Amino acid sequence: MKPEIVRIGPEHLAMLIELFDRIAVDPEARHFHPHPFTPLQAEIRAVYLGPDIYSLMVLRGRATGYGFLRGWEEGYAIPSLGIYIAKERRGTGDARRLMNHLHEVARLRGASHVRLKVHPDNIRAKRLYERIGYQFHSALDRGQCVGLLDLRSGRSIEFVHGRAGPKSYPG
Ligand SMILES: CC(C)(COP(=O)(O)OP(=O)(O)OC[C@H]1O[C@@H](n2cnc3c(N)ncnc32)[C@H](O)[C@@H]1OP(=O)(O)O)[C@@H](O)C(=O)NCCC(=O)NCCS
Repeated sequence: MKPEIVRIGPEHLAMLIELFDRIAVDPEARHFHPHPFTPLQAEIRAVYLGPDIYSLMVLRGRATGYGFLRGWEEGYAIPSLGIYIAKERRGTGDARRLMNHLHEVARLRGASHVRLKVHPDNIRAKRLYERIGYQFHSALDRGQCVGLLDLRSGRSIEFVHGRAGPKSYPG
Protein backbone atom coordinates (compact mmCIF):
# COMPACT_ATOMS: atom_id res chain seq x y z
CA MET A 1 0.00 0.00 0.00
CA LYS A 2 1.34 3.42 -1.00
CA PRO A 3 0.72 6.63 0.91
CA GLU A 4 -1.40 9.35 -0.66
CA ILE A 5 -0.01 12.82 -1.11
CA VAL A 6 -2.23 15.67 0.10
CA ARG A 7 -1.90 19.41 0.35
CA ILE A 8 -1.86 20.26 4.06
CA GLY A 9 -5.10 21.66 5.46
CA PRO A 10 -6.69 22.17 8.90
CA GLU A 11 -7.91 18.56 8.90
CA HIS A 12 -4.27 17.37 9.00
CA LEU A 13 -3.23 19.36 12.05
CA ALA A 14 -3.09 16.49 14.56
CA MET A 15 -1.02 14.22 12.30
CA LEU A 16 1.23 17.14 11.32
CA ILE A 17 1.98 17.94 14.97
CA GLU A 18 2.78 14.27 15.55
CA LEU A 19 5.11 14.15 12.52
CA PHE A 20 6.85 17.41 13.52
CA ASP A 21 7.40 15.92 17.02
CA ARG A 22 9.18 12.99 15.39
CA ILE A 23 11.26 15.18 13.06
CA ALA A 24 12.37 17.33 15.99
CA VAL A 25 14.02 14.35 17.70
CA ASP A 26 15.20 12.42 14.62
CA PRO A 27 19.03 12.40 14.56
CA GLU A 28 18.97 11.75 10.80
CA ALA A 29 17.08 15.02 10.34
CA ARG A 30 19.75 17.05 12.15
CA HIS A 31 20.61 18.81 8.90
CA PHE A 32 16.97 19.37 7.96
CA HIS A 33 15.95 22.68 9.52
CA PRO A 34 13.84 24.69 7.05
CA HIS A 35 11.85 25.94 10.06
CA PRO A 36 11.41 24.81 13.68
CA PHE A 37 9.41 21.60 14.06
CA THR A 38 7.04 22.81 16.77
CA PRO A 39 3.25 22.55 17.25
CA LEU A 40 3.02 26.27 16.43
CA GLN A 41 4.73 25.75 13.06
CA ALA A 42 2.34 22.85 12.37
CA GLU A 43 -0.61 25.15 13.09
CA ILE A 44 0.77 27.83 10.77
CA ARG A 45 1.07 25.31 7.93
CA ALA A 46 -2.32 23.73 8.56
CA VAL A 47 -4.11 27.04 7.94
CA TYR A 48 -1.72 28.40 5.29
CA LEU A 49 -3.54 29.54 2.13
CA GLY A 50 -0.73 31.29 0.23
CA PRO A 51 1.05 30.30 -2.97
CA ASP A 52 3.73 28.07 -1.43
CA ILE A 53 3.01 24.35 -1.25
CA TYR A 54 3.13 22.22 1.90
CA SER A 55 2.34 18.54 1.37
CA LEU A 56 1.97 15.44 3.48
CA MET A 57 2.24 11.77 2.70
CA VAL A 58 -0.48 9.93 4.57
CA LEU A 59 -0.70 6.20 5.12
CA ARG A 60 -3.44 4.57 7.23
CA GLY A 61 -4.26 7.82 8.98
CA ARG A 62 -0.66 8.66 9.84
CA ALA A 63 1.67 11.23 8.27
CA THR A 64 4.74 9.47 6.85
CA GLY A 65 6.27 12.25 4.77
CA TYR A 66 6.45 16.02 4.57
CA GLY A 67 7.49 18.12 1.60
CA PHE A 68 7.30 21.70 0.47
CA LEU A 69 7.97 24.14 -2.30
CA ARG A 70 8.47 27.64 -0.98
CA GLY A 71 9.70 30.98 -2.20
CA TRP A 72 6.76 31.91 -4.42
CA GLU A 73 5.18 33.88 -1.60
CA GLU A 74 8.32 35.99 -1.37
CA GLY A 75 8.28 36.60 -5.11
CA TYR A 76 10.95 34.15 -6.26
CA ALA A 77 10.41 32.42 -9.59
CA ILE A 78 12.41 29.33 -8.64
CA PRO A 79 10.96 27.55 -5.60
CA SER A 80 13.01 25.77 -2.98
CA LEU A 81 12.15 22.14 -2.18
CA GLY A 82 12.50 20.25 1.07
CA ILE A 83 11.42 16.74 2.06
CA TYR A 84 11.32 14.45 5.04
CA ILE A 85 10.40 10.77 4.97
CA ALA A 86 9.54 8.99 8.24
CA LYS A 87 12.02 6.31 9.27
CA GLU A 88 9.67 3.40 8.62
CA ARG A 89 9.12 4.55 5.00
CA ARG A 90 12.73 5.19 4.00
CA GLY A 91 14.05 3.04 1.20
CA THR A 92 10.53 2.44 -0.17
CA GLY A 93 10.60 4.92 -3.05
CA ASP A 94 8.38 7.40 -1.18
CA ALA A 95 11.10 10.06 -1.28
CA ARG A 96 11.22 9.89 -5.06
CA ARG A 97 7.41 9.79 -5.29
CA LEU A 98 7.08 12.90 -3.14
CA MET A 99 9.74 14.72 -5.11
CA ASN A 100 8.15 13.76 -8.44
CA HIS A 101 4.87 15.12 -7.15
CA LEU A 102 6.43 18.42 -6.07
CA HIS A 103 8.29 18.74 -9.37
CA GLU A 104 5.02 18.27 -11.23
CA VAL A 105 3.35 20.96 -9.10
CA ALA A 106 6.24 23.33 -9.83
CA ARG A 107 6.07 22.55 -13.55
CA LEU A 108 2.33 23.21 -13.65
CA ARG A 109 2.95 26.52 -11.89
CA GLY A 110 5.32 27.46 -14.71
CA ALA A 111 8.61 27.14 -12.79
CA SER A 112 11.60 26.40 -14.99
CA HIS A 113 13.72 25.02 -12.13
CA VAL A 114 13.54 23.77 -8.57
CA ARG A 115 16.28 24.51 -6.09
CA LEU A 116 17.34 22.81 -2.88
CA LYS A 117 20.03 22.89 -0.26
CA VAL A 118 21.58 19.85 1.35
CA HIS A 119 24.33 19.47 3.93
CA PRO A 120 27.42 17.77 2.45
CA ASP A 121 27.27 15.11 5.21
CA ASN A 122 23.72 14.15 4.20
CA ILE A 123 24.98 11.54 1.75
CA ARG A 124 21.68 9.72 1.50
CA ALA A 125 19.73 12.82 0.53
CA LYS A 126 22.41 14.13 -1.83
CA ARG A 127 22.64 10.81 -3.60
CA LEU A 128 18.89 10.74 -4.10
CA TYR A 129 18.91 14.25 -5.55
CA GLU A 130 21.75 13.44 -7.93
CA ARG A 131 19.93 10.34 -9.18
CA ILE A 132 16.86 12.45 -9.85
CA GLY A 133 18.94 14.89 -11.91
CA TYR A 134 19.87 17.75 -9.61
CA GLN A 135 23.14 19.44 -10.52
CA PHE A 136 25.27 20.74 -7.68
CA HIS A 137 27.40 23.85 -7.73
CA SER A 138 30.95 23.25 -6.55
CA ALA A 139 30.86 26.15 -4.07
CA LEU A 140 28.95 25.78 -0.81
CA ASP A 141 26.40 28.37 0.30
CA ARG A 142 26.78 28.86 4.08
CA GLY A 143 28.06 25.29 4.42
CA GLN A 144 25.34 23.73 2.27
CA CYS A 145 25.44 22.23 -1.22
CA VAL A 146 23.06 24.00 -3.61
CA GLY A 147 21.30 21.85 -6.17
CA LEU A 148 19.20 22.81 -9.16
CA LEU A 149 16.88 20.71 -11.29
CA ASP A 150 15.90 21.90 -14.74
CA LEU A 151 12.25 20.94 -15.11
CA ARG A 152 12.37 21.36 -18.88
CA SER A 153 15.49 19.50 -19.92
CA GLY A 154 17.26 18.15 -16.83
CA ARG A 155 20.10 20.65 -17.33
CA SER A 156 21.12 23.07 -14.60
CA ILE A 157 21.11 26.80 -15.25
CA GLU A 158 24.19 28.88 -14.78
CA PHE A 159 25.13 29.70 -11.22
CA VAL A 160 25.98 33.26 -10.34
CA HIS A 161 28.27 33.45 -7.30
CA GLY A 162 26.88 30.18 -6.02
CA ARG A 163 23.27 31.33 -6.48
CA ALA A 164 20.94 30.30 -9.23
CA GLY A 165 20.41 33.79 -10.55
CA PRO A 166 18.59 36.61 -8.78
CA LYS A 167 15.17 34.99 -8.84
CA SER A 168 15.80 31.81 -6.88
CA TYR A 169 14.70 31.43 -3.28
CA PRO A 170 17.74 31.59 -1.00
CA GLY A 171 16.33 29.36 1.75
C1 LIG B 1 16.67 12.20 2.65
C2 LIG B 1 15.48 11.28 2.62
C3 LIG B 1 14.24 12.06 2.21
C4 LIG B 1 15.75 10.21 1.56
O1 LIG B 1 14.69 9.29 1.54
P1 LIG B 1 15.02 7.73 1.56
O2 LIG B 1 13.75 6.97 1.46
O3 LIG B 1 15.83 7.52 2.78
O4 LIG B 1 15.85 7.60 0.24
P2 LIG B 1 16.31 6.26 -0.48
O5 LIG B 1 16.13 5.07 0.40
O6 LIG B 1 15.66 6.28 -1.79
O7 LIG B 1 17.86 6.49 -0.58
C5 LIG B 1 18.39 7.46 -1.42
C6 LIG B 1 19.72 6.99 -1.93
O8 LIG B 1 20.67 6.87 -0.84
C7 LIG B 1 21.17 5.54 -0.76
N1 LIG B 1 21.34 5.25 0.65
C8 LIG B 1 20.46 4.65 1.45
N2 LIG B 1 20.97 4.58 2.70
C9 LIG B 1 22.19 5.11 2.66
C10 LIG B 1 23.21 5.33 3.62
N3 LIG B 1 23.06 4.97 4.89
N4 LIG B 1 24.37 5.92 3.22
C11 LIG B 1 24.54 6.31 1.94
N5 LIG B 1 23.61 6.13 0.99
C12 LIG B 1 22.44 5.54 1.35
C13 LIG B 1 20.13 4.70 -1.43
O9 LIG B 1 20.72 3.49 -1.93
C14 LIG B 1 19.68 5.61 -2.54
O10 LIG B 1 20.61 5.67 -3.59
P3 LIG B 1 20.32 4.99 -5.00
O11 LIG B 1 19.12 5.71 -5.58
O12 LIG B 1 21.56 5.25 -5.75
O13 LIG B 1 20.04 3.55 -4.70
C15 LIG B 1 15.23 10.60 3.99
O14 LIG B 1 16.34 9.79 4.31
C16 LIG B 1 14.97 11.61 5.09
O15 LIG B 1 13.85 12.05 5.27
N6 LIG B 1 16.03 11.99 5.84
C17 LIG B 1 15.90 12.94 6.95
C18 LIG B 1 15.51 14.35 6.48
C19 LIG B 1 16.43 14.88 5.44
O16 LIG B 1 17.64 14.72 5.52
N7 LIG B 1 15.83 15.52 4.42
C20 LIG B 1 16.57 16.11 3.34
C21 LIG B 1 17.17 17.40 3.76
S1 LIG B 1 18.03 18.17 2.43
